[in-house]
Amino acid sequence: MQIPDIIIAVDGYSSTGKSSFAKQIAKEFGFTYLDSGALYRGVTLFAMENGFIDDDCKIDVEALDAALKGLDLHFGPQGTYIGSRCIESRIRSLDVASKVSPIATVPQIRSFVDGKLREAGSRKRVVMDGRDIGTTVFPDAELKLFMTADPLVRAQRRAAEMASKGDVASLDEVLRNLQERDYIDSHRETSPLTQAPDAIVLDNSNMTPAQQMDWLKEIISDKFGC
Ligand code: DC
Repeated sequence: MQIPDIIIAVDGYSSTGKSSFAKQIAKEFGFTYLDSGALYRGVTLFAMENGFIDDDCKIDVEALDAALKGLDLHFGPQGTYIGSRCIESRIRSLDVASKVSPIATVPQIRSFVDGKLREAGSRKRVVMDGRDIGTTVFPDAELKLFMTADPLVRAQRRAAEMASKGDVASLDEVLRNLQERDYIDSHRETSPLTQAPDAIVLDNSNMTPAQQMDWLKEIISDKFGC
């Protein structure tokens, strides 16, 4: 299937499989996959390494904002980079994950990341996943998906993924954490997670990856006549 030069925005709740689906879409159509959360994680690592955020997640916003002017954070061949240093595995660690939510609420940081994302998507043929891609970063994206799934199904998937990495957590604990993150993401003041009016909802509670792709191809074929 040949599709036109468009931007595909994939937003939605945590643990709904956004990044897996976005990667699957990129592979299927020869698009570039861009992970917007990785840039929030990159800024978090930068803040941690340079003393702009403390153990209690208190952020020195003014100093961090000034330092961002010189931060060369970008996507590269192996994922996310600061300058020539690949930070991909480092930004997936628990210590970064535990500080990224407060970092992502700071308007100056959101505007820094938005700029990087717009630059990265300027040549189209990208699929970008996140929380505010279809609402704020690319409000004119030609195709917007909004992913959701039953919280219990999401918690079960997340618990299984954690168990496969040797992290043990009860289903209750995972479910609570997920609902907390949904709340923070949906209630922050700047760019909260909301469905764009023109986004198409995908509830994948009872769908396999192959079924999701069939669903998408039908939508693309209807929308773009290909
Ligand atoms: O998708 P992720 O878990 O890598 O995202 C990390 C954090 O960044 C998460 O707290 C939500 C936030 N985020 C955001 O606020 N806006 C985006 N477009 C992407 C991620």
